[in-house]
Amino acid sequence: MPDLSVNFAGIHSPNPFWLASAPPTNSGYQVMKAFDAGWGGAVWKTLGVPVVNVSSRYGGVNYRDKRLIGFNNIELISDRPLADNLREIEEVKKRFPEHAVIASLMVQSRQEWHDIVRASQDAGADGFELNFGCPHGMCERGMGSAVGQEPRVLQMIVEWVMEVAQKPVIVKLTPNISDITEPALAARRGGADAISLINTIQSIVGVDLDRFAPYPIVDGKGTNGGYCGPAVKPIALNMVKNCAQHPGIKLPISGIGGIENWRDAVEHILLGASAVQVCTAAMHFGFGIIREMTAGLSQYMTEKGFETIDQMVGRALPNVLHWEDLNMKYQVTAHINADKCIGCQLCYTACEDGAHQAIGLQAGTRVPAIIEENCVGCNLCSLVCPVEQCITMERTDDGTQHLTWKERTAAQTIPTEFNDERAGGRHHWVPEPAAALGKERHKTLPGKARLLNGVTEAPAS
Ligand SMILES: Cc1cc2nc3c(=O)[nH]c(=O)nc-3n(C[C@H](O)[C@H](O)[C@H](O)COP(=O)(O)O)c2cc1C
Ligand code: SF4
Ligand code: SF4
Repeated sequence: MPDLSVNFAGIHSPNPFWLASAPPTNSGYQVMKAFDAGWGGAVWKTLGVPVVNVSSRYGGVNYRDKRLIGFNNIELISDRPLADNLREIEEVKKRFPEHAVIASLMVQSRQEWHDIVRASQDAGADGFELNFGCPHGMCERGMGSAVGQEPRVLQMIVEWVMEVAQKPVIVKLTPNISDITEPALAARRGGADAISLINTIQSIVGVDLDRFAPYPIVDGKGTNGGYCGPAVKPIALNMVKNCAQHPGIKLPISGIGGIENWRDAVEHILLGASAVQVCTAAMHFGFGIIREMTAGLSQYMTEKGFETIDQMVGRALPNVLHWEDLNMKYQVTAHINADKCIGCQLCYTACEDGAHQAIGLQAGTRVPAIIEENCVGCNLCSLVCPVEQCITMERTDDGTQHLTWKERTAAQTIPTEFNDERAGGRHHWVPEPAAALGKERHKTLPGKARLLNGVTEAPAS
């Protein structure tokens, strides 16, 4: 049985799954319920001078039959008195001493930072997360992402906190910045023990076409909010990777953004996170999702032979290169598994209009055919095909050659002129423009493909 427990920058928890600072961690009632369900830690809803929120507060992006693939909010930090939150933190810690309870904090002056850090550690918090990420409401008051976007200010505040903190300090970063490593480096310079990312992405999730106002609508008006949920995972993963690979940062990372199941969590961990946080999925499906998350993670670790979480951290990083270091001699070609094909021909349309005209329709069957010599191996058809493993990308080079853009640059074999013979497009087939139109489509095209009756016909093979 693998060991799921983590020691994140000195903070212990029975598993790597923490609830992120947000409505699910707004009260002791919720955090106790979550721990009882199996969550390893919780970052309390951000504490500071309590706020007053608006109604409504959330907007969602639904995609086809899926609800909330993206989630947007315009709410602020905790609207509950600090004393109530601290009393409940103390109560939770007494009942769950082995679980991680982190106080998320956001205040303004040095004195306020000192006061709230001392008060939270007196209440028994295991660590602090400095909220430098909120992209709405608080940044207009010089807090949240306004700090996260100013590395020098961020560093100064971290230094203030380190003057009094006796527990580990995590700096939560905003993704609303062009280079996430800059505030991460500032956190390190300030003396932080760890970083967490990402907070929400500044966004407008949609506009009401009748009321001419963005969602969520507050008395006919709206404002930009913070975006999160499954849709932001790719952005979060890239930023986690950027921080994990940076040689100057070298801080433990708590990965946040779009984590809904154990697979999402493992992706964050393989790219360098040593613990993860979840918000939207807990708001959408409730605390019970933790059971599938811990069971799935445990099974994955057993299958892969990992005994501890630490053994997994960053395992994918050596395989994340710069584009210029990828092997340009590697070649894949699409292959259709006729037994699985349902004949929808979505692949044909996608390749014909959106890629390289390398799929033909065949007389007498709805199963399209790949015209191998035209296929550049872009993947588009396999991505649009609705049947799992129906279109597979098969390796077609012999694996003996390896050449990168960097090597080609050094060897001076890269295209350097507008009409260079060495341009990549010179080496795959492109139809003549007129072949797209009416009668011209009957002409025979180069390559094996022929146009017949308005469709590209693949040869019977
Ligand atoms: C309604 C809502 C309120 C949030 N409030 C806070 C907050 O008070 N402090 C904070 O640091 N992050 C806050 N967040 C951001 C989350 O902690 C988290 O960083 C973000 O939602 C990305 O994770 P997810 O994709 O799992 O939702 C909030 C998010 C939501 C949706
Ligand atoms: S998209 Fe997939 S299922 Fe549809 S025709 Fe192409 S190969 Fe067949
Ligand atoms: S991989 Fe790209 S070029 Fe090849 S058949 Fe599919 S869509 Fe066309």
